[in-house]
Order: sequence, then C-alpha cells, then structure tokens
Amino acid sequence: MNVKGKVILSMLVISTVIVVFWEYINSPEGSLLWIYHSKNPEVGGSSTQKGWWFPSWFSNGTHNYQEEEEEDTDKEKGRGKARRKEDDKEELQLWDWFNPEKRPEVVTMTEWNAPIVWEGTYNGAVLEDYYAKQKITVGLTVFAVGRYIEHYLKEFITSANKYFMVGHKVIFYIMMDDLSKMPLIELGPLRFFKVFEIKPEKRWQDISMMRMKTIGEHITAHIQHEVDFLFCMDVDQVFQDNFGVETLGQSVAQLQAWWYNKYPYQFTYERRKESAAYIPFGEGDFYYHAAIFGGTPMQVLNITQECFKGILQDKKNDIEAEWHDESHLNKYFLLHKPTKILSPEYCWDYHIGLPSDIKIVKLSWQTKEYNLVRNNI
Ligand SMILES: *[C@@H]1O[C@H](CO)[C@@H](O)[C@H](O)[C@H]1NC(C)=O
Ligand SMILES: *[C@@H]1O[C@H](CO)[C@@H](O)[C@H](O)[C@H]1NC(C)=O
Repeated sequence: MNVKGKVILSMLVISTVIVVFWEYINSPEGSLLWIYHSKNPEVGGSSTQKGWWFPSWFSNGTHNYQEEEEEDTDKEKGRGKARRKEDDKEELQLWDWFNPEKRPEVVTMTEWNAPIVWEGTYNGAVLEDYYAKQKITVGLTVFAVGRYIEHYLKEFITSANKYFMVGHKVIFYIMMDDLSKMPLIELGPLRFFKVFEIKPEKRWQDISMMRMKTIGEHITAHIQHEVDFLFCMDVDQVFQDNFGVETLGQSVAQLQAWWYNKYPYQFTYERRKESAAYIPFGEGDFYYHAAIFGGTPMQVLNITQECFKGILQDKKNDIEAEWHDESHLNKYFLLHKPTKILSPEYCWDYHIGLPSDIKIVKLSWQTKEYNLVRNNI
C-alpha cells in the first residue's frame, strides 16, 4: 500500500471512530443510534435529540429511510411523518419569526411569554420557508347542523379554501347531521374534505357542547394520524384574508373580539362556584373565543376531553355554564396556558366597527341570524 492509501485508510478509521463516539454521546441512555429507529416512534420524538439524522446516513442510511417510507403507507402514517420531521428540522425559535415591538399599542406577549400574534408582528417568509420544508398537513373541523348548513357552510368552506393555510395541505373535517345537504364546493389543490354524520341534538347548547366529545373521538380514531396541526372553528364566520402558518402552535387560543381590550374582572366567565367552569373574580388572563381553538392533535384532544369532563360534571350537578363550552374552554386555558394566542384580527366582529388596532381582518363573524338557525333561542 502506498502512502496515499495509508492516509486514506487511517482517515476512514478515524472518522468511523468519531461517528460511533458521537452517536454514543448523543444518545441519552448511552445506547447506539439504531435503538431510536425501533418501532416506537415516540422514543425518538423529542427535539432535544436532533442530530441523529446525519450520522444515520453514514451508519446505514437507506435502511432507516426505507423503514420510514414503509411506515408512511400504513396506519402509522401520521406518527412516521412526525418523526421524520423531528429528525430533520431545526427547531424554529420565537425570535426567528416574531417581533412583539412591531405593535407597541397592543399586548403582544403574555405574562407566561407566549406570543400574541397581531398583523405586523410575524415574519411570514421565515415561517413559510420553515413549514414548507416540513410538508405539514393542517386539519380544520367544522360543525354544521340543521339550518346552519344552508346559511353558513358553503361560504365558510369556500372562503377557507381560498384563505386558510394557502400553499399547505389542508383537510376539512365537516360534521353534519344531514349528509344530503353537503353543498357542492370545488376545492383547490392540496385541499381535501372528509364529511361525517353526527347525531342531531335538540338544543343548540347541546350541539355546541357535544362538539367537544365528537372532536375528541375523531382525533383518537383518525385525525391524529392525518394532520400535524388541527383547528376547530365555528361555521358562522367567513375568511377574508390569509389565515396562515403564523397561527400554528402547540396549543392556540383566540382572543374574543368584544373583550380583547377589557379587564379580567369584566369578563363573562362562569362565576358560580357550583360549575366546573368557575373562575373567581381576580383570576383569569384573557377572554377566549370558542369559535377558534387549535394546536397539535394531541393537545386539542386534551382540550376537548377536559372541557367535556367539565360539561359532564355540570350536567350531573344540574348546572349549565353561562357560555356553555366556551366557559369550559376559558377555564381550561386558565389552568393550561395556551402557547400561542391569536389577536382579534383572526376573528373579528364588524358590529364593533373597525378600530385602528385591527389592521387586517382575517376572518369575520357572520351576521348571527339566531332566529333563523336555532330551534330554541
Ligand atoms: C443496512 O441496511 C440494509 C438494507 O436495509 C440491511 O440489509 C442491513 O442489515 C443493514 N446493516 C446494518 C448494519 O444495519
Ligand atoms: C391533559 O393534560 C394534563 C397535563 O398535561 C393532564 O394532567 C391531563 O390528565 C390530560 N387530560 C386528559 C383527559 O388526557
């Protein structure tokens, strides 16, 4: 062997040693890489463990890759997908995309350091780049029952098709009591819908509260494998401008348009101790609107399950919270702070007028024709 050959050989040996050693120190339990590519994707899920992706290509890249491809086609699709993303993403930091100082006249950070997203505070290009690389899928659940179908559903879906998560894959989950009334809507590319039949409830309060149970059941049964993020919205609203990836987060709450500039003691929280939704005067951060909430599927599952628990407890005690599921949602977000909050620009009511705080209306309330759409007013 000539000198050149010896140099190359020794370099190979050295780099192998480095890679193996690096793998070793990178694995929290001191075990080697391939353990993390075993069947349980949860093990490899934590973002603190990024960096195996690279060496995995050295040690046996194709093997791991093929395994993931296989998983993508089976029932574990969502999980396999989530894991691959964990592997190759650089976690986006808040300051990479968010600048609270851009809107000094409004509250842009919570006490627990969660961003409140207002128009102008976020860098859309950075976010788009980040989420496009991850090839995310976003779900959106909407319920339309009785006359809500003909009054609102078509406009809601048509406008969502145009403005919700433009450029990203979206699945609309439409829950209706009468599938034959599903309006004909032509969806754009990357947009899909799944329609489900639900049992009609007599009172609108019950429709609204049962929604929590139904969403939870669907997340468990299939949504968790189909999307990376999920929003749950009321149908009686219409998108007016881009509702984009800046709204995505672990656990996302919406400021209620009428209350965003009021004090907590004024909020219409449930104030009776007997209710599970009880929030005493002196407590509370914001008044959140149940017309929009979201997060990762697992987080939304937790929201809906906890709210439904509260609703059931109230039923047992023969009490109904003042604002039904919204009261329970407010209690939930008091106990489990949202990681991101959307400004009222994301769910505006034009009946308030248009104060200068509201730069762009992304979604607006429809006229509430309660006398037409609700059986019991
Ligand atoms: C590398 O991958 C191939 C193909 O999947 C596989 O047959 C082989 O056993 C793997 N080797 C190691 C060391 O994991
Ligand atoms: C929701 O999450 C909290 C805290 O993470 C946990 O204590 C609770 O048991 C969860 N609830 C359900 C219904 O899973």
